[in-house]
Amino acid sequence: MKKAIILAGGAGSRLFPLTKIVCKQLLPVYDKPMICYPLATLMLGGLREVLIISTPKDCPMLRDYLGDGSQFGIRIDYAEQAKPNGIAEAFLIGEKFIGKSGACLILGDNIFYGKLDFFRDALALEKGACVFAYQVRDPERYGVVEFGSDGRAISLEEKPKHPKTHFAVPGLYVYDEQVVDLCKTLKPSGRGELEITDLNLLYLKKNQLHVKALSRGMAWLDTGTQTSLLEAGNYIATIEHRQGLKVACLEEIALRMKFITRNELERTIDKLPKGEYREYLRLVCQEDSTAAPKPVG
Ligand code: G1P
Repeated sequence: MKKAIILAGGAGSRLFPLTKIVCKQLLPVYDKPMICYPLATLMLGGLREVLIISTPKDCPMLRDYLGDGSQFGIRIDYAEQAKPNGIAEAFLIGEKFIGKSGACLILGDNIFYGKLDFFRDALALEKGACVFAYQVRDPERYGVVEFGSDGRAISLEEKPKHPKTHFAVPGLYVYDEQVVDLCKTLKPSGRGELEITDLNLLYLKKNQLHVKALSRGMAWLDTGTQTSLLEAGNYIATIEHRQGLKVACLEEIALRMKFITRNELERTIDKLPKGEYREYLRLVCQEDSTAAPKPVG
C-alpha cells in the first residue's frame, strides 16, 4: 500500500491577512477546515498512513486539530518543511516515512469533488507515476500538460506564460518507489524550488508517466485566493444543502470505509460539542444501522 503525504506548506501570503495567525490549510471551506478535503480524498482512496508536512509555525496547529488520526482509524505523522523549497522536497523530507513503498502526494489546498475512481485506479498502478489533467480557464497559474495525437503526454511546463493547452495538472500525484531517488537528482528551479513538474518530467523522459484527463463532471477547486476560497465554500455549501450530506466529513468517511466501527464513532461523538456537526454524525450512526444505501464519495 502506498504512503500518503499532504503538503500543507507555504506562508499563505496571497490570503493575508486571513493567514496572519491561522494556517492557510485550517481556514474554513464552508463548514470545516480546508485540510479535511485533501485528507478525505486520501481516505476515500483507501490510504491510511499519512504524513502531513507543514511549516514549523503551522505544524503544531495542524497536529492540535487532527491529532494522530486514530479517531479516523488512520495514522497521521507530522514533519516540518523549514523553508519553502518546493513541492518535490516533500519526498526528501518524507524519505524514511515512504521507505520502499510508493507515495501519493496531495496539496493541502486542493479540493476534489466527484467520483474518485480515477484516483483509485492510479493507486493500483505498480510502475511509474500518474498525474492528472483538468481543463481550466487560466492554465498559466498551474503546471500545464500537452498531449500528442495518441493521447499520451508529450510536454509539461510549470506556470508557462504562453500555455500550449488548457489542461492544468492538479495537486494530486501518485509515484512508485523510485520517487525519493529521483527527487535527489533534482536541482532548484529559477524560483529556487524543487519543482514537482521537474519530477514529473523525469518520469516522462523514462516513458513512465501516465497522465489521465479528469472528466468535466469532476470538480477540482482552488483555494489560493480570497475569491477562489469563497467560491469553493459556496460550492460545498450548495452540494451539502441539496443532499443533506456532508462533503469531506472525516468521521463519516472513516465509518463508511470501515476504518472505524460504529461503536468507535459513537465514542467520538460523545466528546464533540453540541451542535450541527455532532447531530449530523448521530444521523450517520443511525443510518449505518439500517439497510439503506450508504453513499461513499
Ligand atoms: C503547484 C504546482 C503546479 C500545480 C498546482 C496545483 O502550484 O507547482 O504544477 O498545477 O500546484 O494546485 P503552486 O501551488 O506553486 O501555485
